[in-house]
This record gives sequence, structure tokens and C-alpha cells, in this order.
Amino acid sequence: MTVYLVGAGPGDPDLLTLRAAKLLATAPVVVHDRLVSPEILQLINPRARCIDVGKTPGLSHSQSWINELLVELAGHYDSVVRLKGGDPFVFGRGGEEYEALSRENVNVEVVPGISSAFAAPLLAGVPVTHRGLSHGVTVVPGPAMSGAGVDFRALANADVTLVVLMGVQRRAEIASQLREGGLASSTPVAIIERASTPNQRTLRCRLDELGGIDVSAPAVLVIGAGAALALNGALDSIVSLGV
Ligand SMILES: C[S@@+](CC[C@H](N)C(=O)[O-])C[C@H]1O[C@@H](n2cnc3c(N)ncnc32)[C@H](O)[C@@H]1O
Repeated sequence: MTVYLVGAGPGDPDLLTLRAAKLLATAPVVVHDRLVSPEILQLINPRARCIDVGKTPGLSHSQSWINELLVELAGHYDSVVRLKGGDPFVFGRGGEEYEALSRENVNVEVVPGISSAFAAPLLAGVPVTHRGLSHGVTVVPGPAMSGAGVDFRALANADVTLVVLMGVQRRAEIASQLREGGLASSTPVAIIERASTPNQRTLRCRLDELGGIDVSAPAVLVIGAGAALALNGALDSIVSLGV
């Protein structure tokens, strides 16, 4: 019995690893999240048992319930695929699932996926590092970016690109805290919705405009000088708001 914690990437099935595609085609049971795209779900063996444990606000299974389900399934099947959006260990609670399974002596293998933290900027033509513009990148979760306990002065580093996941709801607060931390109001921002899907859309604005931008999740916020670049030959629809 092995549970495979598999990254599904940002949505486009062409961005799956070969290992992930092989496991989807052969595993007898697949437990998946809400953000896994329908095109990827179609790659699951049609005879496999498919369990959606997607977390929708107000209608979700607890993480401990999911952990217990995985342990139980591991007792019944030789291989279980736990399919998660992006990379399983990037804000996906894959680490907790790994630990819960290991505690029960279940063999676990991790299959990396392309995280939206990197795929979304890249597909919008935004380099997260770029000589002369940004010498590093910091990836942070929006929900944790409330005032308390967050060092916004450290995050407000104009030389480093900031990538925010799950940041749509708190975008106004994040922008104003970063400005208070010292980041210029004119700092370029790119917001990439539904990256790698046919509905990918990139919006661009300044940091002081971010709160007023109409955005829908899932989206990645990219804040920093590189966000003004579009090194993708305009592959998606770009809404430019004055950068
Ligand atoms: C719970 S986190 C999971 C991240 C995932 N493990 C990863 O590596 O991409 C969900 C957040 O990832 C981002 N996200 C995931 N897929 C996305 C996509 N196709 N386009 C834009 N953002 C995406 C959004 O910020 C979303 O709120």
C-alpha cells in the first residue's frame, strides 16, 4: 500500500508531470481537491473510484477527516493517488497528510507539481527574478497576511518579487500594509486569474490601485518591478491599468 501525494500543476493537463499522468491512468482510487481542473480529472482511469474532498468555503471536510480517509483507503488499495492542485507541499497541506500517513506506517511517495506560485507569473510573462529588477522571490499566503505578527517592512523589499497565493480577498489590506512597510505606491502589480486555463486573465495595476481592482479567485498576485514586464508575447488577455 502506497499513497502518492501528486501535484496536478496549475490546471492545464499538458503541465502535469509524466509520473502524475501515469499514476492517474492506473491508480484504482483518486482523492482530489476542488482546484484540480476537469481536463485533468478526465485523465483518471474510468474504472477508478474518484473521491472529491474539495474544500469550498462553508462546505468542507476537515483536514483530519481527509487524513483519516487516506489512512483507511491505504488499508484497502495497493495504491491511492491523493491529487492536489499545483505542488502538494506549497500551501496544500500535503506535509500534514504525509505526516499523518507516516504515523500510521503507510508508505508515502510525493510527486511534485508545478506550483501556481511560479506557473502563473511565468504564463503572464512576469519573471519572478530578473537581472537588475529582482534578485529573489518570496511566496506568502494571503490569509496569513493580517497586520498581527507579519513583518511588512521585511516583505516590502523592492528588490525581491512578492508572490501572494489566496490573496484576492485581502488584497486591499495587503496593499496598504506593504505601502506602510515602505513599498512605493507605484510598485507594479500583476494579478493572474485561472492561470494555464482557457480563461486565464492578467490584470496589471499599481500597488495603490490593487484594492480597487475587480478580481476573482483563484488568482496569484505578483508585486514587484518584474510585474510590469510581459515576456509572453501577450498570450493571454491583458487588462492594463496605467502601469
Ligand atoms: C490552497 S492554495 C494551493 C496552492 C497549490 N498547492 C500550488 O502550488 O499552486 C490555492 C491558491 O493557489 C492559487 N492558484 C492555484 N491554482 C491557480 C491558477 N490556476 N491560477 C491562479 N492561481 C491559482 C490561488 O492563489 C489559490 O487561492
